[in-house]
Amino acid sequence: MAMKLDGAVALVTGTSRGVGVKYVDALLARGAAKVYATARDPAAVIERHADAWGPRVEVFGLDVTDAAQVADAANRCADLTVLINNAGINRMQGFVAARSATDARAEMATNYFGTLSMVRAFASTLGANGGGAIVNMLSILARATMPVMGSLCASKAAAFALTQGVRAELRAQGTQVIAVMPGAIDTDMSRDFPPPKLAPEAVVAAALDAVEAGVDDVYPGAMAEQLAAGLARDYRAVEAQLAKRLPG
Ligand SMILES: NC(=O)c1ccc[n+]([C@@H]2O[C@H](COP(=O)([O-])OP(=O)(O)OC[C@H]3O[C@@H](n4cnc5c(N)ncnc54)[C@H](OP(=O)(O)O)[C@@H]3O)[C@@H](O)[C@H]2O)c1
Repeated sequence: MAMKLDGAVALVTGTSRGVGVKYVDALLARGAAKVYATARDPAAVIERHADAWGPRVEVFGLDVTDAAQVADAANRCADLTVLINNAGINRMQGFVAARSATDARAEMATNYFGTLSMVRAFASTLGANGGGAIVNMLSILARATMPVMGSLCASKAAAFALTQGVRAELRAQGTQVIAVMPGAIDTDMSRDFPPPKLAPEAVVAAALDAVEAGVDDVYPGAMAEQLAAGLARDYRAVEAQLAKRLPG
């Protein structure tokens, strides 16, 4: 399964900053007919980007943890052919070292349940419009746990399981379901993370290339590629390597 983005109608979550903004830029550059740029604070997005993005972009409010807003989005975007689940949070907490499980629950609510809500809301629309594609922004840490941000890893691992299951469930309707699993990206989220960090534009280019080439799992950047290769060889060795990054 593969699809051309020229003429596509896409929705991107989390377009207030970071990778989400670059998804909108790149979709426009690849000829998307329409991009729904969604964010928790749409007014700020309009102020910052509406002029540059122009008439092909429609900005509206969407918190992926709000079921009513997700349902409204699905009603509004009946023409959708590409869903990009980009919104995410990382509270940088360990499992035991965290003072409570509050941050772990918040990460699960956004990164896993938010993605699940969006996929469930838009699956039939994508099917009705010919199949299309779902792009889930995960992380290489969906496949291996770094203890310093353990609960983030758990939420991304859950979203990876979701990606695999949805891929199977929607195959018959022709929907391509892509897992994007980069290493650290140079955005607010990784502000305190040491270099090297990927340019968000490079991650977006790899993800959109995968849509157009029909590739299911994408590992942008050397760190993700090396960890993925290591996992295939000896996953306990990767676990031992990441175990050095402890909380505190
Ligand atoms: N940065 C990295 O190192 C890295 C590495 C691997 C994967 N990723 C993944 O890449 C994606 C984009 O991250 P980023 O680096 O661009 O991070 P970022 O700069 O922190 O941006 C996160 C975006 O998600 C939005 N968001 C958070 N919770 C939301 C919710 N409930 N509903 C709607 N939008 C919400 C934020 O909106 P507000 O402005 O309203 O907070 C913001 O637009 C995430 O899924 C992240 O996990 C990032």
